Amino acid sequence: MDFLSIEIIDEVAEAIRSRTSLVPKVGMILGSGLGEFAEEISSSTKIMTADLPHWPKSTVEGHAGRLILGEMEDQKVMVMQGRAHFYEGYSMPQIGLPVRVMKRLGAEFLFVTNAAGAVNSDFEPGDLMLLTDHINLVGMTGLSPLRGPNLEEFGPRFPDVSRVYDRDLHEIARNVSVELGIKLQEGVYVCLAGPAFETPADLRFLRGIGVDAVGMSTVPEATVARHSAMRVMGVSGISNKANLDGNTITTHEEVLEAGHMIAPKLSTLIKGVLRQI
Ligand code: HPA
Repeated sequence: MDFLSIEIIDEVAEAIRSRTSLVPKVGMILGSGLGEFAEEISSSTKIMTADLPHWPKSTVEGHAGRLILGEMEDQKVMVMQGRAHFYEGYSMPQIGLPVRVMKRLGAEFLFVTNAAGAVNSDFEPGDLMLLTDHINLVGMTGLSPLRGPNLEEFGPRFPDVSRVYDRDLHEIARNVSVELGIKLQEGVYVCLAGPAFETPADLRFLRGIGVDAVGMSTVPEATVARHSAMRVMGVSGISNKANLDGNTITTHEEVLEAGHMIAPKLSTLIKGVLRQI
């Protein structure tokens, strides 16, 4: 496997700089079916990620593969409409590349979103869940996005991850949700490699280890962001109840359908947070 060098990351950053002079403060990654929110960005430059060198292209329905740089709530943002996943065949370092490019372009914050299944039985499809922490199950088995030569330009060999998700951003998100009347659950997210959804036994295991929501993304990107001291906020859109008893089935169509219900709430929450950072 090839690890990413600083030269490769800077080549991508330069390709973006040649199209816009905007210096993003906030990088955002929009998960499955959640991309429509990016339509609200003003004065924007849109880049198809297929036109960028080295960028891991998304091959999944519901992920447009577009990068939008512009303004939202008077903040300069760089938004990924769609992302790449490990199950598509990319390496973990490749999945981390967009976040490192955001950092090189100047981003101080990463807002990362995903569609997830609820393991916590109190959660309902359509709910938003603020990530208080994650379990890096795939990373624990050796597939860390930070594996390989450490890039000192970003951060230390052994980064602290006791607070991946920024506590001040938690506070802001909680206040915004109360003010604007958005129900906001909180919990622990786990990233699995996918692409198969979980068996009922997988899900009972996940419940036992303290998982509230399960998905196939976010943890690599959040880990890379934290390595370079970016301030991270993570939000899951709960698209389905996980099938703990084996009596229902989960489909990607269901996940995309729930995205239409979740995207407006997510947009309201994120814009509220943008106004306060
Ligand atoms: N499992 C894993 N990933 C998911 C799910 C799920 O139930 N729903 C949306 N993404």
